Amino acid sequence: MLEINGLTVAYGEHLALRNFSLSMQEGEIVALVGESGSGKTTAIRSVLGLLPLGGAVTEGTISFEGQQLQGLLPREWKSLRGKKLSMIFQDSGAMLNPIRTIGSQFCEYIRTHSSLSKKEAGALSQEMLERMGLSDPESILGAYPFQLSGGQRQRVGIAMAMTFQPKLLLADEPTSALDVTTQAQIVRQMLELRDTYGTAILLVTHNLAVAAYMANRILVMRNGSTVEQGDRESLLRSQEPYTRQLLQAVPDLGGKRYV
Ligand SMILES: Nc1ncnc2c1ncn2[C@@H]1O[C@H](COP(=O)(O)OP(=O)(O)OP(=O)(O)O)[C@@H](O)[C@H]1O
Ligand SMILES: [Mg+2]
Repeated sequence: MLEINGLTVAYGEHLALRNFSLSMQEGEIVALVGESGSGKTTAIRSVLGLLPLGGAVTEGTISFEGQQLQGLLPREWKSLRGKKLSMIFQDSGAMLNPIRTIGSQFCEYIRTHSSLSKKEAGALSQEMLERMGLSDPESILGAYPFQLSGGQRQRVGIAMAMTFQPKLLLADEPTSALDVTTQAQIVRQMLELRDTYGTAILLVTHNLAVAAYMANRILVMRNGSTVEQGDRESLLRSQEPYTRQLLQAVPDLGGKRYV
């Protein structure tokens, strides 16, 4: 479904990603882990064609469902982003407009990507919030972003991203800004979405425990290069020094590691 081959991304002279390759199947969850600055965000932004100003793919190819993504026209992107490809961010609250209600933003989002009427869009946004386990969707739709907790805003973000049942969800540190209890709920909900819709998830996290819990496959990155990749079991037993270092950074609880 997603095929990245030999991708190199530069910000000016600086190579943020080197010879990055990844192929993903439908419904698969792959986690990118690695220290700050290792190129995780750069990798997923490249897939969406949304590198920050100054960033450019200098080598390699990305194809999604057999379609080359480089060189797509704006209208071709429009039919992909938000529909077949969606993204959730570390703090979805920051993506929301602070002076407009959740409901009006959610409806607008739905209507830019579909031909639904206002009323249908309203009903769909409510349904999506319910699916994300938000107990009082109506009052959430009427609220402003600052009136919600971080966990609620994050669920709104995920609900929006899942509206059109994307084939691929790109999630950049989706649980990092949350407390551990809320983190666990969001992680379970993402897994449920995968099971319900068959959505593949490319997950960026610095939390190896979250990666090990969710992902079928884990890629360890450092300085823009892939150090190693493998399934959870093989990575947990890895002898690769950097991977071992990451594993040792996972906090101990009563002598037993979380992972
Ligand atoms: N807009 C930018 N302009 C210039 N350099 C950038 C830009 N964004 C990222 N970089 C550089 O690219 C490299 C990779 O950054 P990236 O944001 O992909 O890392 P990351 O793995 O997501 O880190 P973090 O865990 O901190 O989010 C870093 O060296 C960073 O300094
Ligand atoms: Mg990042």
